[in-house]
Amino acid sequence: MNSKYAPLFESFTFPSGVEVKNRVVMAPMTNFSSNADGTVTDAEVKYYARRSDGVGMVVTACTYVTANGKGFQGEFGGDRDELIPSLKQVATAIKEKGAKAVLQIFHGGRQCPPELVPNGEIVSASAVPAEGNGKPVPRELTDQEIESIIHDFGETTRRAIEAGYDGVEIHGANGYLLQQFFSPHSNRREDRWGGSIEKRLTFPLAVVDEVKKVAAEHAKAPFIIGYRFSPEEPETPGITMAETLVLIDALADKNLDYLHVSLQEFWSKPRRGAEDSRARIEIIQERVGDKVSVIGVGALYTADDVLKAFQSGVPFIAMGRELIIDPDWVQKVKEGREAEIVTKIDKSKQQDLVVPDPLWQAIIHSPGWFPGIE
Ligand SMILES: Cc1cc2nc3c(=O)[nH]c(=O)nc-3n(C[C@H](O)[C@H](O)[C@H](O)COP(=O)(O)O)c2cc1C
Repeated sequence: MNSKYAPLFESFTFPSGVEVKNRVVMAPMTNFSSNADGTVTDAEVKYYARRSDGVGMVVTACTYVTANGKGFQGEFGGDRDELIPSLKQVATAIKEKGAKAVLQIFHGGRQCPPELVPNGEIVSASAVPAEGNGKPVPRELTDQEIESIIHDFGETTRRAIEAGYDGVEIHGANGYLLQQFFSPHSNRREDRWGGSIEKRLTFPLAVVDEVKKVAAEHAKAPFIIGYRFSPEEPETPGITMAETLVLIDALADKNLDYLHVSLQEFWSKPRRGAEDSRARIEIIQERVGDKVSVIGVGALYTADDVLKAFQSGVPFIAMGRELIIDPDWVQKVKEGREAEIVTKIDKSKQQDLVVPDPLWQAIIHSPGWFPGIE
């Protein structure tokens, strides 16, 4: 290995006590490949196995914690005990290759396609549709239903423990239900779940507390709890960078193992609500980095891209598309073969890359999504 990359291969022990062998994480990526009943398919299990012997930790695609939170066709389920064997197949495939397995737990809220949820009824913090033509108006959740969804996040955490995962990542990013409660766009409530910024934080923080409680009760080995968030929203009203700092301050006080920023571009700059012109990740790392480990992500294709990002001070770098394009990314750097890393998808290599059909179809029909696809 070229010695300049050695810092990426230092092990790290999270506050929970889980040790990971290096600083590279596979980013959560939905693969649209599970069965309609929520069980995983062999194709997706093989896809994870193919990508789990280099990275220190794999965060799975999101899994719904309750039936009305299913956000994608072919999403795998974590909402019923009978799915524990299915959840276990993914955990085992990842762990057998030496990476830690982290289940991303999720509720899609108003972003769920009506055809995927019971009675076609989508729910959210308030009856406000997402921006864009023809987006359905969700039904506002009742107080009791909100309590029930918090409980569901805990139940899926218990199932993750029983299925052998090393941890869970709470999906608070990308405009889904947790973010819908924090956002002034989607949360117009005037009860204990909305109104002031502190009240908009109530639901996401209650989910964190519930997941922690369940992990403390059920996990027999150290168990990772992470939280993923998106800094800012484009809409007005919408979450600003200043509000994001309030969110991460609150999360940093929760003794989590990590905070995972969801970004398309690692070095992207704030839109508004920040005094300075540094990248969002630098502002976030400065604000909470001494309290909680931050995972950065976004369009880091080469070994030098990743090294430069790591030198910003964040202790972990996640990679998504890059590991679809080149599942041997980490091994190549480790073996001094970084010049051989593939950075554009080769459309003739689906079999070699071990990518399930539905994900492959999504990739090759999405111009601009993956480098090399026009
Ligand atoms: C196919 C695909 C599916 C994704 N699914 C999820 C998901 O389930 N949960 C999530 O938090 N982010 C998801 N993302 C976002 C990625 O985790 C990541 O933040 C983004 O792709 C930018 O990183 P990259 O440039 O390394 O791919 C997905 C991205 C892609 C390309």
